Amino acid sequence: MDISTLESTARALVAPGKGILAADESSGTIKKRFDSIGVESTEDNRRAYRELLFTTAGAGEFISGVILYDETIRQSSSDGKPFPKVLEEQGIIPGIKVDTGAKPLALAEGETVTEGLDGLRDRLAEYRGLGARFAKWRATYSISDTLPSQYCIDANAHALARYAALCQEGGIVPIVEPEVLMEGTHTIDRSYDVTAAVLDALYEELFAQRVQLEGTLLKPNMVLSGYDCRQQASVDEVAEKTIKCFRTGVPAAVPGIVFLSGGQTDEDATAHLDAINKRGPHPWEISFSYGRALQAPALKAWKGDPANVAAAQKAYYHRAKLNSAARFGSYSPEMEKELVSS
Ligand code: 13P
Repeated sequence: MDISTLESTARALVAPGKGILAADESSGTIKKRFDSIGVESTEDNRRAYRELLFTTAGAGEFISGVILYDETIRQSSSDGKPFPKVLEEQGIIPGIKVDTGAKPLALAEGETVTEGLDGLRDRLAEYRGLGARFAKWRATYSISDTLPSQYCIDANAHALARYAALCQEGGIVPIVEPEVLMEGTHTIDRSYDVTAAVLDALYEELFAQRVQLEGTLLKPNMVLSGYDCRQQASVDEVAEKTIKCFRTGVPAAVPGIVFLSGGQTDEDATAHLDAINKRGPHPWEISFSYGRALQAPALKAWKGDPANVAAAQKAYYHRAKLNSAARFGSYSPEMEKELVSS
């Protein structure tokens, strides 16, 4: 393992003003996204949609890397160029989702463990050959009055660390993604406590399994009120509690924290990222690795119609630009109007 190459890739992914596009929706998830705009999820529609995103001119100014799905990393643009190559030509680093999903955790009603370790060493070698330089593995934790259990937290931390060690051995930067889900009526303080416990177990396992933190990135949830909590926290409270939680739980050797959006509206996800960066500097770069919050306006503008590609690319470019501003803490809600007036 060459840690300096891993570290320079990790640092490039969190270069100033840049963040990651998560375009690694599994077949089931992309079908849900397409259903919302009335588009059939065929292989070619998925290819056309991803091509639209990856060929957006100038996106490389704001986007450092794109996470692909197994099908997508093997697909090509309509003029026959493999997607990893399309991205590289824009100065964007290709990445790959390598977990095979969250499955019911045995003897733990309502909890999951993420699978995909079997054969992972060989799959990583193949993905590296296809151009991937970083990977992602997502564990999820539901909050209720009694969940998540320490058993669930520990089982997922162990799997995340095994994945991360295999990635580093194979010359790929692991993004470790422990996602405490927003679903539920829990308060922001409960989200804080669960996120802190998850980070604690994760870094203990990464250390035990010899993962070099300089060559990793963390992709977590922000500390947020549950969707159905009656008392929704303000942007300031989210920023303050998120920073406090991560300062306590994440070693400074980690080059960057790249938040997921997790079902926040695109504007909330940008405003929260901005408020966190306004309170910097922090021990690590604080950036984004958004799926829904970067893609929602583009998906809505596209609607599966080739005539809408330019409008969809404009919407995606604008969202990427606003999140880039939030990397510097220089976003303001008035900037939302620029797209309408441009
Ligand atoms: P969201 O930003 O839509 O949560 O997606 C990020 C992601 O990659 C989830 O695994």
